[in-house]
Amino acid sequence: MPVRIAPSLLSADFARMADEIAMCEAGGADWIHVDVMDGVFVPNLTFGAKVIETVRRLTDLPLDVHLMVVEPEKYFDSFAKAGASTLTIHAEVAPHLHRQVGRVKELGCLAGAVINPATPLSAVSEVAADLDLLLVMSVNPGFGGQQFIPAAVDKLRRARQMLTQAGSAAVLEVDGGINRETITQCWRAGADTFVAGNAIFSAPDPRREIGVLRDCCREVV
Ligand code: DX5
Ligand code: ZN
Repeated sequence: MPVRIAPSLLSADFARMADEIAMCEAGGADWIHVDVMDGVFVPNLTFGAKVIETVRRLTDLPLDVHLMVVEPEKYFDSFAKAGASTLTIHAEVAPHLHRQVGRVKELGCLAGAVINPATPLSAVSEVAADLDLLLVMSVNPGFGGQQFIPAAVDKLRRARQMLTQAGSAAVLEVDGGINRETITQCWRAGADTFVAGNAIFSAPDPRREIGVLRDCCREVV
């Protein structure tokens, strides 16, 4: 199973965005994770289509856009046009998740669903077969640099089983508090895609850290 590392731009130095993205590429990042927050769904505000468009011009890597917003459907068209590769919707704000997943695919993006630590997997089980990506939050979303919630490991294990049972080829991603200490257990539980903000951008050598995290995802014999 491939391992994907997705640095989260939330922890990057925005004044040096081009350099930060070039560093991610040089370090072998697979995706760039873009955290969109509206100050309503989460108590923090970040960026919208204009910034996604800017990032799109700086890299050819897939842009993994995590929508921490209410009424996510309002942004699908403009974010797809801005160059988002994946649009991931929180199940907590998506009573019409099936329709929204379909709309994201119509726009040519990969469709993801994400659940908060308090949200059960059953919130997405009925659409599991339709998803391109399932994201399990391992912190309560809103800020970078928070501590990993250990219960996410068992949830990932159950999420992997759910995807297998549904015959879904969806990517299983984990986001929040991922670092050298936490990544291996998530990988063993069945996650294949790892968002990391603080662990990469606050490392003494951020470029190297991407490879170090990837190397934590293998059995030591
Ligand atoms: C949290 C965001 C994360 C965040 C991860 O709300 O969704 O993507 O940037 O940052 P770290 O890896 O520092 O927990
Ligand atoms: Zn995120």
